[in-house]
Amino acid sequence: MTVRVGVLGATGAVGQRLIQLLDPHPSFEIAALTASDSSAGRSYRDAAKWRVDSPIPTDVADMTVQATEPSSVPDDVDLLFSSLPSSVGAEVEPDFCNAGYVLSSNSSNARMDADVPLVIPEVNADHLDLLEVQRDERGWDGAMVKNPNCSTITFVPTLAALAQFGLESVHVSTLQAVSGAGYDGVTSMEIIDNAIPHIGSEEDKLETESRKLLGDFDGASLTENSVEVAASCNRIPTIDGHLENVWVETDEDISADDAAAAMESYPPLELPSSPDPLIHVFSEPDRPQPRMDRTLGGGMAIAAGGIRESPFGLQYNCLAHNTIRGAAGASVLNGELLLENGYL
Ligand SMILES: NC(=O)c1ccc[n+]([C@@H]2O[C@H](COP(=O)([O-])OP(=O)(O)OC[C@H]3O[C@@H](n4cnc5c(N)ncnc54)[C@H](OP(=O)(O)O)[C@@H]3O)[C@@H](O)[C@H]2O)c1
Repeated sequence: MTVRVGVLGATGAVGQRLIQLLDPHPSFEIAALTASDSSAGRSYRDAAKWRVDSPIPTDVADMTVQATEPSSVPDDVDLLFSSLPSSVGAEVEPDFCNAGYVLSSNSSNARMDADVPLVIPEVNADHLDLLEVQRDERGWDGAMVKNPNCSTITFVPTLAALAQFGLESVHVSTLQAVSGAGYDGVTSMEIIDNAIPHIGSEEDKLETESRKLLGDFDGASLTENSVEVAASCNRIPTIDGHLENVWVETDEDISADDAAAAMESYPPLELPSSPDPLIHVFSEPDRPQPRMDRTLGGGMAIAAGGIRESPFGLQYNCLAHNTIRGAAGASVLNGELLLENGYL
């Protein structure tokens, strides 16, 4: 079965990755592209400054970019991937759901709403059924599932692997690539020869989204995990790939070997975009590194390394490709989960 899909915010950093991942895709066919009014009416080739590391797909290049409103998207499009700025998403995404479209969205608006599933399929696929609650409460024919922030996706799968030992507290410090801010996000004068120890609202996202992702859904409501999470976020001059240093205290004492085994054996899914293994564990102490390891599993794997015991609990480093696993690939994977679970 081929599902016709659209991309909202198709000209941006995440939108371009979405097009790269969707063309071709075994289940999805791109049938609509939207962006801001300044891009609407232009060919995609003309409107998007294509910066992804593969040629622009020829069938997409000649498509006309539409305005981001439900009336611009054909009725036979069943799934929309949204990579709009969150302020725009907050305004227009509910209109699309109300008009009957199912959204798999990257934007941070509504991620923490009680009836919006925030999903990493390998971690909490069961939360997707929160969509039944959402449809009851909001009266939508459509629906909205969110993927988490790119730096949250990087460390939460490693916590899911360690959850069997009882999670007490987590400290995480990030080294985040410039592509995470979007194409116009950080200027070269700000970031070359520099590191910026502040990313607006980012710490809060890691702290709150991680507890929601690791929470329990009983079929009616979701209870957040009680683990305490403290985050510190830094922007550094890498292009793609967020590296994170993590300290985890667990109820049970665990060795570095126990932790490595739990991460290595964490089960992958059989969805087309889910990598196997999900977590790639390095024994070399200087890995993972952004430039060398961000494309593992087609950019969908989580890399971990430097696992050791410390006075502050278990310590390790982890890495994920922020615009693939952390954004576009995460949305595509949620789309695949929606399809597998009969929501399309
Ligand atoms: N970059 C990452 O690693 C990452 C990771 C996770 C989540 N996210 C989230 O994904 C979203 C997109 O991020 P990005 O980095 O791709 O941003 P971006 O490069 O700035 O792209 C933004 C996209 O939204 C469109 N847009 C802007 N204003 C609009 C409006 N008023 N109406 C309709 N469309 C509008 C832009 O179209 P024009 O080209 O016409 O302006 C463009 O297609 C954000 O919510 C971000 O927080 C990003």
